[in-house]
Amino acid sequence: MVQISNYKGHGKREYKNKDSKSYPFLFYDKIFLMDDFKHYTVMLNEAVDALECQDGKVYVDCTLGGGGHSELILKRIQPNGKLIAFDIDDEAIAHSKERLKDYKNLTIVKSSYTNIKSELDKLGIKKITGGVILDLGASYHQLTKQERGFSFSKDAPLDMRFDMSSDFSAYDVVNTYKEDDLVRIFSEYGEERFSKRIAKSIVEIRRIKPIGTTKELADIIVKATPHIKSSIHPATRVFQAIRIEVNNELKNVKNVLHDILEIIDVGGIISVISFHSLEDRIVKQFFKRESQKCRCNNMICTCEPPRIELVNKKPITAGEIELKENPPSRSAKLRIARCIR
Ligand SMILES: C[S@@+](CC[C@H](N)C(=O)[O-])C[C@H]1O[C@@H](n2cnc3c(N)ncnc32)[C@H](O)[C@@H]1O
Repeated sequence: MVQISNYKGHGKREYKNKDSKSYPFLFYDKIFLMDDFKHYTVMLNEAVDALECQDGKVYVDCTLGGGGHSELILKRIQPNGKLIAFDIDDEAIAHSKERLKDYKNLTIVKSSYTNIKSELDKLGIKKITGGVILDLGASYHQLTKQERGFSFSKDAPLDMRFDMSSDFSAYDVVNTYKEDDLVRIFSEYGEERFSKRIAKSIVEIRRIKPIGTTKELADIIVKATPHIKSSIHPATRVFQAIRIEVNNELKNVKNVLHDILEIIDVGGIISVISFHSLEDRIVKQFFKRESQKCRCNNMICTCEPPRIELVNKKPITAGEIELKENPPSRSAKLRIARCIR
């Protein structure tokens, strides 16, 4: 039986698809369809092979999502291994709970992976003896389901919360942040060239009336930016930036990597898939720093020996078949490290 711990109810701003029906499972290796949940598991074999799964050990999937990585881990740790899987999205949890219901050694925790230390402690787990996987960012389901308000191509209330019980959404960022803060997040998290013009326009328009929907915001961005030939929609970068801010994505990644180092056993593996350069930079710099022999600038080194070693110096990327099946996986990078102390 799949256990769900810390399962909270839905929050006030929830836009649920009331007509969602159940359909029989359609399982095509990496794409899993059930109800209206759809997600292609990126670098399934590469990311799970890296964990060198063994029966009897403890593994953590920090980002359960559609359950693709979790399922393969579970297959490989029978009969006595343990998998603890985290997510904050009720729809992902409901879907994966059903998908993985036959696995007795799975515990699903509805909590942020940033609570990994306290949640494992509650479960009586002192050390991650096998490994940890993080598949960062949003699922295909989150990005494309209209009501979740992530997409500028589908009109919906501005939302973008991974955790639908959170009180803080894209609406709050767009309608309450100071102009300077909007400029900062559009520049830092979206690497948007026209941050100032877009932020100014948002602030002018919301003085008249709050900006409520993805379409209203996308229209403001299109009008505020010069017509330059580009392969991406002018709202892409700002939407990415707002999503990162709403879900605290970059800070969470930094924090969880530090916490994992405190609770992973010697020999344990950390396998991380990132989707954009900002996330990848955090993972790369963390792995580099923690695997360096010297991290001080002193003439005589005072550093403790490194905690990890890199399993791959260059990131692993999706193979040809996967790129054909799922073109967005071209942005994914997999970095792997092993705890050595
Ligand atoms: C790319 S998907 C994971 C897909 C999954 N590996 C699969 O095979 O289907 C990322 C998931 O991480 C979840 N997530 C994002 N931030 C999180 C956090 N701070 N704590 C726990 N889960 C988080 C999202 O809700 C989403 O379901």
